[in-house]
Amino acid sequence: MQIDILTLFPEMFDGPFSQSILKRAQEKGIVTIHLHNIRDWSTSKHKTVDDYAFGGGAGMVMMIEPVARCIEELKEKTEYDEVIYLSPDGELLTQPVANRLSQLKNIIILCGHYKGIDERIREHYITREISIGDYVLSGGELAAAVLTDAVVRLMPGVLNDETSALSDSFQDNLISPPVYTRPAIFRGWEVPPVLISGNEKEIVKWKHEQSLERTRQRRPDLLDEAGF
Ligand code: ADE
Repeated sequence: MQIDILTLFPEMFDGPFSQSILKRAQEKGIVTIHLHNIRDWSTSKHKTVDDYAFGGGAGMVMMIEPVARCIEELKEKTEYDEVIYLSPDGELLTQPVANRLSQLKNIIILCGHYKGIDERIREHYITREISIGDYVLSGGELAAAVLTDAVVRLMPGVLNDETSALSDSFQDNLISPPVYTRPAIFRGWEVPPVLISGNEKEIVKWKHEQSLERTRQRRPDLLDEAGF
């Protein structure tokens, strides 16, 4: 998969993309991530990328021209399945959305800033708008990093043990069961005996019951969605 990210702050991605799973996925060649500084596509002398809103109102608006030029140039070389704009008014990012995006070949992710982007970008270039939650961030960069992580970790070959993504919370609309590691007793606090019983069938049953119980307690809405 190729992911092209359009941003005013490319350095914000240095940390998340150079560590752990995202680093490994890029090293293995499973995903190629290109960061594009929108300012580089500004034709003005001072590399301006924002301007006052027509009709007034607080806050600056990201200009259409630099973003349009950048997207058009990328599209000359690559065919994209989706041009995604990260915005609090987009469709909520859920595990099914991440699953579907992980099956695509090439995507563009546009990070907004200031009071938003010129609406004509949304009308003419954006194919999908995604929000990572019902709160407002200062810009789309952190949301883009979250989206990229959620999508890339699902791609075949990224996780060492492919089943570990399948057993994530939300994959089957259930929250994951609790997990434990050694020591089996710490300060008198014991690991559930079934987990060290060696009885695989009982362990599978226990984990499923725990998942159901946790979901019932913490996220009953997920059970309704799944028809439990
Ligand atoms: N940009 C600002 N807030 C956002 C959010 N909640 N999700 C995605 N992009 C955003």
